[in-house]
Amino acid sequence: MTSAHQGLSGLLDTEAIRKDFPLLDRVVHDGKKIVYLDSAATSQKPRQVLDALNEYYERHNANVHRGVYTVAEEATALYEGARDKVAAFINAPSRDEVIFTKNASESLNLVANMLGWADEPYRVDHETEIAITEMEHHSNIVPWQLLSQRTGAKLKWFGLTDDGRLDLSNIEEVITEKTKIVSFTLVSNLLGTINPVETIIRRAQEVGALVCIDASQAAPHMVLDVQALQADFVAFTGHKMCGPTGIGVLWGRQELLEDLPPFLGGGEMIETVSMHSSTYAPAPHKFEAGTPPIAQAVGLGAAVDYLSAIGMENIARHEHAITEYAVRRLQEVPDLRIIGPTTAEDRGAAISFTLGDIHPHDVGQVLDEEGIAVRVGHHCARPVCLRYGIPATTRASFYLYSTPAEVDALVAGLEHVRNFFG
Ligand code: ALA
Repeated sequence: MTSAHQGLSGLLDTEAIRKDFPLLDRVVHDGKKIVYLDSAATSQKPRQVLDALNEYYERHNANVHRGVYTVAEEATALYEGARDKVAAFINAPSRDEVIFTKNASESLNLVANMLGWADEPYRVDHETEIAITEMEHHSNIVPWQLLSQRTGAKLKWFGLTDDGRLDLSNIEEVITEKTKIVSFTLVSNLLGTINPVETIIRRAQEVGALVCIDASQAAPHMVLDVQALQADFVAFTGHKMCGPTGIGVLWGRQELLEDLPPFLGGGEMIETVSMHSSTYAPAPHKFEAGTPPIAQAVGLGAAVDYLSAIGMENIARHEHAITEYAVRRLQEVPDLRIIGPTTAEDRGAAISFTLGDIHPHDVGQVLDEEGIAVRVGHHCARPVCLRYGIPATTRASFYLYSTPAEVDALVAGLEHVRNFFG
């Protein structure tokens, strides 16, 4: 029998890749192997990353930037080496522009707090505006709401079109001469939409606003070149790109990081401290108070090595082929409505949908019995659900290890769900 996905081009050798990911061998229900379709929530981890974590703890564990003994110097070299790897991965002009945080949420909160405490010309206050979009993850909404409540700055946002894209028709009203910061996601975690960065940045630059990009759903999946992007800040997280949890990144332009104030105070972020005042270390250390997530950074460095060896262009091509196939196959399922773009163009590999009036939690539960792991709910992007008049969605998301056969399993699982609920 010919399978529906024969002839798909651009696919990676997933048979080889999947051998690197122990969890993908898990059997979950009645001997059924897991079909892991929740990489937008967190990716699985290759053995190379697990080994790096283990090796770090077994052989090099010590605090960084403090000890003069051999193992402490090794720990520092590994931690700072991870910064070099991340800087190269995103084509940062300088390693000092890479700040390690605990996740993308912390990175975005850091930007909001830097601007809230900043002096002119960066300070956000009651005479200024902040621009975001209706498709943001809560982590790129709530920090700006908090900043707006604290400073009196006006929070504005771009709405969404019916087909799940940003409505930029009123760009000159949303981004105005008063706008200090425009913060938006490169790829929506719920809709999958890839946003038109250049158009937004051009307008922000016209009015002299800073630009912050949430690249959490982009960094794992495509070439991320911060110089080509021309943003001022780029935030992302390690655990969605084969790294461990507990490590995030904020990249920021060097001159901004020099000018902007720290958010958290503590050890290792200072130059001198007296009982009256302190001076701060240069970036990135100014923004890394306390013992940092050392092992996690080392794990992220290993993840970056792993992804780079496969090649981000190759990963993007693979995901595009899988997404194109999944979008096509899902639209064959009766009563299924994709929430977001219904073509593979300008979309990432997270696909949200509803299935008739079956609640997504029920869909997720029946799929789980088939061994299929998807995310259900509002995906921390509740305003998107409100915009489309739905309480929640089911979301399937794909990564470098995903296969067309897993798309087929999902489609078959959804048939099962429909039969189950009559
Ligand atoms: N931000 C993650 C998601 O979209 C958790 O699922």
